[in-house]
Amino acid sequence: MVRFDLVSIFPRFFDGPLGEGIVKRAVEAGLVDIRVHDLRDHTADRHRSVDDVAYGGGPGMVFKPDPIVRAVEAIAAEGGRPDAIILTSPQGRRFTQAEAVRLSGLRHLVVLCGRYEGIDERIHEFFDLEELSIGDYVLSGGELAALVMVDAVVRLVPGAVGDEQSVELDSFTRGLLDYPHYTRPADFRGVRVPDVLLSGHHAEIERWRKTQALARTLARRPDLLPDAELDDDEREILRALMARKGEDDGRD
Ligand code: ADE
Repeated sequence: MVRFDLVSIFPRFFDGPLGEGIVKRAVEAGLVDIRVHDLRDHTADRHRSVDDVAYGGGPGMVFKPDPIVRAVEAIAAEGGRPDAIILTSPQGRRFTQAEAVRLSGLRHLVVLCGRYEGIDERIHEFFDLEELSIGDYVLSGGELAALVMVDAVVRLVPGAVGDEQSVELDSFTRGLLDYPHYTRPADFRGVRVPDVLLSGHHAEIERWRKTQALARTLARRPDLLPDAELDDDEREILRALMARKGEDDGRD
């Protein structure tokens, strides 16, 4: 069982996404426990204020440390010390599949959804806070980033996705993009499925899929290749693809 405590100033934001699909089923099956907390419930002033202007001036508001510290303390008092406290932030380390795998092995995660210009930096004096970013763009708030992380982690919890093999074969699990997929009909408005997939020849199908996955990765995400886990076949296919690409580039 993995427990998530999500802390946000927009707790209703999560109702739709957590109420659908694999995440909903995982909650219903008791594989994960997801609790959403309203940061304003942890304020101590009449106005329930969570933010204030920045010392030193400049645009935008900053989350005050007090409600965040109180929210985390309340979660720890009720649910025990969390294994990780994450702050969603464009300043964070990149959230990757490897991070999702790491987090799926923990039992209790707190995710603080950032907003505005960020949180008062002194928050780091109170807990080990990991800042994670889902990509190099700025969202209007961390709620979507938190949902991305919850979704990516939940589907790795054993039993959450019906077909375990489909999780193991995911793109990124081995650091490559996925090969193309086809389903019936074999001929759709005159466009045919590649013959090899209809051949029933398993070894050839596997080689075709490896080649496609490598060719796509080479064309679209060559940055992934140095860290990809390749078998001997794949290394040979990649060498051939790169040699051909070298020839093509030379001709341009
Ligand atoms: N908050 C705003 N932008 C973000 C991003 N790219 N990742 C995580 N949290 C964010």
